[in-house]
Amino acid sequence: MGSLLLLQFQIILCLHMFFTSFSSSSSLSLPLCHPDQNSALLQLKNSLKVDGWENGTDCCSWPAVTCESTSGHVIGLDLSWHGLEGKNNSTSSLFHLTHLQKINLAHNSFYGPLLPSQFGGFVNLTHLNLSWCSFEGDIPSKISYLSKLVSLDLSGNLNLKWTETTWKRLLRNAEIFLDYTDMSSIRLSSLSLITNWSFSSVTLGLSNTNITGYLTSDILCLPNLKELHLYGNTYLQVHVSRLNCNASVSILDLSFCEFQGSMIPSSFSNLTYLTSLTLFECGLNGSIPSSLSNLQHLTHLDLSSNSIFGSILSSFSNLQHLTYLDLSNNNLTGAVPASFSKLELLTHLDLSSNELWFNPFISLEASRSCCLGSFLQ
Ligand SMILES: *[C@@H]1O[C@H](CO)[C@@H](O)[C@H](O)[C@H]1NC(C)=O
Ligand SMILES: *[C@@H]1O[C@H](CO)[C@@H](O)[C@H](O)[C@H]1NC(C)=O
Ligand SMILES: *[C@@H]1O[C@H](CO)[C@@H](O)[C@H](O)[C@H]1NC(C)=O
Ligand SMILES: *[C@@H]1O[C@H](CO)[C@@H](O)[C@H](O)[C@H]1NC(C)=O
Ligand SMILES: *[C@@H]1O[C@H](CO)[C@@H](O)[C@H](O)[C@H]1NC(C)=O
Ligand SMILES: *[C@@H]1O[C@H](CO)[C@@H](O)[C@H](O)[C@H]1NC(C)=O
Ligand SMILES: *[C@@H]1O[C@H](CO)[C@@H](O)[C@H](O)[C@H]1NC(C)=O
Ligand SMILES: *[C@@H]1O[C@H](CO)[C@@H](O)[C@H](O)[C@H]1NC(C)=O
Ligand SMILES: *[C@@H]1O[C@H](CO)[C@@H](O)[C@H](O)[C@H]1NC(C)=O
Ligand SMILES: *[C@@H]1O[C@H](CO)[C@@H](O)[C@H](O)[C@H]1NC(C)=O
Ligand SMILES: *[C@@H]1O[C@H](CO)[C@@H](O)[C@H](O)[C@H]1NC(C)=O
Repeated sequence: MGSLLLLQFQIILCLHMFFTSFSSSSSLSLPLCHPDQNSALLQLKNSLKVDGWENGTDCCSWPAVTCESTSGHVIGLDLSWHGLEGKNNSTSSLFHLTHLQKINLAHNSFYGPLLPSQFGGFVNLTHLNLSWCSFEGDIPSKISYLSKLVSLDLSGNLNLKWTETTWKRLLRNAEIFLDYTDMSSIRLSSLSLITNWSFSSVTLGLSNTNITGYLTSDILCLPNLKELHLYGNTYLQVHVSRLNCNASVSILDLSFCEFQGSMIPSSFSNLTYLTSLTLFECGLNGSIPSSLSNLQHLTHLDLSSNSIFGSILSSFSNLQHLTYLDLSNNNLTGAVPASFSKLELLTHLDLSSNELWFNPFISLEASRSCCLGSFLQ
């Protein structure tokens, strides 16, 4: 009886394997992994800290490896945080994995100090993440030939050298993260020359780059610009007196940037798609423009650590979607508007270090009054 059950089980298992392999690759040959790709990965293994990469097993089942289900080609490799220090030519076997579409080598330093131009040889590459890899020097022009690249992350390579030419060449990707690289020789205004983004959504991470020049309306009006991170660029000046477009930008971080007139431009009320606005320590010295309450989609607003004075207008309560509001460390005076109690989604509220007073008859739920203490005397 027991062996009959076992036999049935084996038949079912066989059928199962037949159907799954039939449906996924229309061939019965297992494993999926190609011998050349298998040996390239095994060579790479010598320079990595990686478990579960065993010769004789299907490399498509190894951790950090993704294969295309029909061809069995290795198309994805995520080796972030797997690294060894130092140079070792055995890592060049990565470049034999020519079918790769997604590469993540973040937080390693096994190539270097120069960024190998061979990365430009992966013709089908869509995602390249080489953040915090200690690369130095020029960005090889071959990398800009990657015509299918959608997402490029080179952030944290502090000694990469940008030139206007390499920067303009790379401005073709939908997601570009260059935070913590040295862009002191680049002017942000060159962005406005790009008139033909071919992506439906563009994210630019340029925080802590020392990029110079001006943030102007031309840039904020770039079609399909969704996220612009310019945190920590103290040499950058914000000059946006007019915005004659329906800017699509949704996340904007200009912390530490310098604002013309030390004021929040009234044109920002035309950034109607904003969900997150961060203007931490921007030297703002003016009142909060009432038109800010036009930004109906805001969920995150941080104006902390400026010299903003005047009172908080009751129209603030129009910002019904706010979950995060930080106005701390300014010179705001007067009463916290009673209408604040309408901000039902707030989970973080910080009004500390101002000269505000709080009407004890309005109630803010405990969960929303995290940071009221310091002015509640
Ligand atoms: C370089 O690779 C070899 C194997 O090819 C390995 O034995 C050695 O430890 C590696 N050295 C460094 C510095 O990564
Ligand atoms: C993997 O195993 C095969 C057969 O056992 C052997 O020929 C090959 O050299 C091995 N590859 C590596 C990189 O150890
Ligand atoms: C790596 O290979 C190149 C040639 O491909 C050679 O010039 C270089 O000396 C090698 N580096 C090391 C550390 O083995
Ligand atoms: C790149 O993608 C195309 C289209 O999907 C495919 O025909 C080609 O074989 C791929 N090339 C490599 C090297 O993976
Ligand atoms: C790159 O990889 C790092 C580490 O895994 C990750 O934190 C970062 O978000 C990645 N970048 C992109 C653009 O996905
Ligand atoms: C930006 O400039 C400051 C000095 O002005 C320097 O300390 C910092 O390292 C620079 N940042 C980058 C990413 O080069
Ligand atoms: C975009 O415009 C630039 C010049 O402004 C041109 O060199 C480039 O080929 C264009 N790209 C596309 C995809 O049309
Ligand atoms: C806002 O945009 C409209 C057109 O969409 C324009 O008429 C108006 O001048 C803009 N306001 C500011 C302050 O830029
Ligand atoms: C902005 O959008 C509104 C409504 O969708 C439209 O009427 C207006 O013409 C647009 N303005 C610009 C400058 O595109
Ligand atoms: C703010 O501006 C006023 C003049 O409008 C000036 O007197 C004051 O010093 C400025 N405060 C700061 C902190 O810059
Ligand atoms: C607030 O204003 C007073 C003078 O009215 C000034 O001494 C103080 O530094 C200001 N605080 C901030 C954070 O700007």
